[in-house]
Amino acid sequence: MDQGRPGGAAAASRASGRRTRRRPGAAGVPLQIRCVAVARARPRRAPGVGLPAVLARAVLPRRSHLNEEHVLIHQTHPADIHTDTETALCAAIRAYSSGDTTTAHSAAVQARALDPDSELARLLAVIIAGCDAAGVYDSPAAFRAFIRGGGNIGLYEATSGALRELYQRHRPQRLLDIGTGDGMALLPALTEHSPAVGVVEPSAALLAETTAELTRRGIPHLAWPCTAQDFTATHTRRWDLVQSTFALQSLPEADKARVLRWIAAHTDRFVLVEFDVPEVESVWEPAWFRDCLARLERGLREYDDDRDLVGAGFILPVILGKFGTSTPTNYELAIDAWEALLREAGFAGITTRRLADYWWRPAFLGEAVTGAG
Ligand SMILES: C[S@@+](CC[C@H](N)C(=O)[O-])C[C@H]1O[C@@H](n2cnc3c(N)ncnc32)[C@H](O)[C@@H]1O
Repeated sequence: MDQGRPGGAAAASRASGRRTRRRPGAAGVPLQIRCVAVARARPRRAPGVGLPAVLARAVLPRRSHLNEEHVLIHQTHPADIHTDTETALCAAIRAYSSGDTTTAHSAAVQARALDPDSELARLLAVIIAGCDAAGVYDSPAAFRAFIRGGGNIGLYEATSGALRELYQRHRPQRLLDIGTGDGMALLPALTEHSPAVGVVEPSAALLAETTAELTRRGIPHLAWPCTAQDFTATHTRRWDLVQSTFALQSLPEADKARVLRWIAAHTDRFVLVEFDVPEVESVWEPAWFRDCLARLERGLREYDDDRDLVGAGFILPVILGKFGTSTPTNYELAIDAWEALLREAGFAGITTRRLADYWWRPAFLGEAVTGAG
């Protein structure tokens, strides 16, 4: 049964690695020289201390094939004093993900002391101290500031611009947006061609912002304050165009497949915007982990006045969900995997194109049609 109500009344009721050990900053330096330089630049460490050791302890329980080096490192007891920032950050994240907030906080504080410029270390210590388990979309201030600043400005301009062109080209009369948020992608696209709109969004606060603006602009709309899973379990109408931007990554794989099957059965055309996030065997894999730290630092630094709000309230909780034993906030996929899911769901014609670069991963737009397309 449909839960939607016209005029936004419903809304008112209620975001590779290979296993190399290259040290950052050494690219392009011949191997031999690089090793000598590293040996001079870095303090000597006791065996079993440092990023490889901390990562190995994290990786070991998940690996079935262990090499001798891993075993050796694992068997050596670590010191609690870390000698470089990466190692301290790794220890902090590892301890945090296993619920040991005392060790996590002390390691984050050490990371910050080792590198006073590390915003990641500073904010990690903040959120570990706060230990706030609230959902990232429950209180929208951090998410709102996140998507309105930094690299999101260009990302959303590209997203809304692409949607606007699609509306003009296909001129849908009824448009369904799944996981609308506060309408950051949808609303700026509703200009030249403005269809009747259906919005599905589980965060009551974000949905209320979208429907308030739709009402203000006189755009006919229906709103469903629920998840994509709940909506597609009961909704039976067809839509000329269905879209979802950065939202279906929130669904676990089985739910993605089921929701995409519903979409393929209820529209001729679906537009998906998601980041291209290649699968990694383990998030503790050294090359992936280092790359993740560098991306996080870059992402946090894209914000100035809002950095604490955005970093502690959105970016870190979302990314740390990838390391946690708690439920992750998202389940990102490589764009090839999205394509495969769309095909399995029943879409016949699928095209994808790179939409924008972004500190986390590039965003892609996928267009899928059910007919000959
Ligand atoms: C990163 S935001 C993107 C919002 C909006 N589409 C945009 O492009 O700005 C992800 C959105 O998905 C919503 N969401 C989370 N879980 C969902 C689910 N199971 N079904 C539908 N939407 C969901 C969140 O509440 C949030 O609004």
